[in-house]
Amino acid sequence: MQAILIGFMGSGKTTVGRLLAEQLKTKHIDLDNLIVEEAGQSISEIFAKHGEAHFRKLEQQILSKALKLPGILSTGGGTPTIPANVSLLLSSKAPIIWLAASNQATINHLKNDTSRPLIKDLNQDGLLKLKEKRFSQYEKIADLTIKTDSLTPLQIMQQIKEWL
Ligand code: S3P
Repeated sequence: MQAILIGFMGSGKTTVGRLLAEQLKTKHIDLDNLIVEEAGQSISEIFAKHGEAHFRKLEQQILSKALKLPGILSTGGGTPTIPANVSLLLSSKAPIIWLAASNQATINHLKNDTSRPLIKDLNQDGLLKLKEKRFSQYEKIADLTIKTDSLTPLQIMQQIKEWL
């Protein structure tokens, strides 16, 4: 893997990952998409039918395979919250880039979202608590942090490209 994008839900990991892969003429690998393909079910269906623990197991298996491929990896927001995943991410030796959005931008981005099972029953406070809890987990493993608020996905991609 050439680079790994981490960050909270709605921070732009998929969009930026796609742009970066295009620019570097390599493959974009979206962990959530791989999970959906492998399971033959949407993320919501996996959570609803089998629960979060099952999703995390799938996520870990697929992460371990994905890290062996060349390209740019967009992780899920919860990927770095599992210690075994953190070990896998770090042992891949690929640079880890954290897309850090502000609380306000996160709320704006996710307020009408119905596709993410983990937040569908959360109010604004709950969402921010979850974000807060994850902050240190992202911070601990990030080699580069990009504050995304005043930047377009294209500008974020450019910053990453220059840094790489
Ligand atoms: C999750 C984030 C989602 C997806 C799943 C769980 C999380 O990915 O993996 O719904 O725990 O934060 P995105 O960050 O791409 O939305």
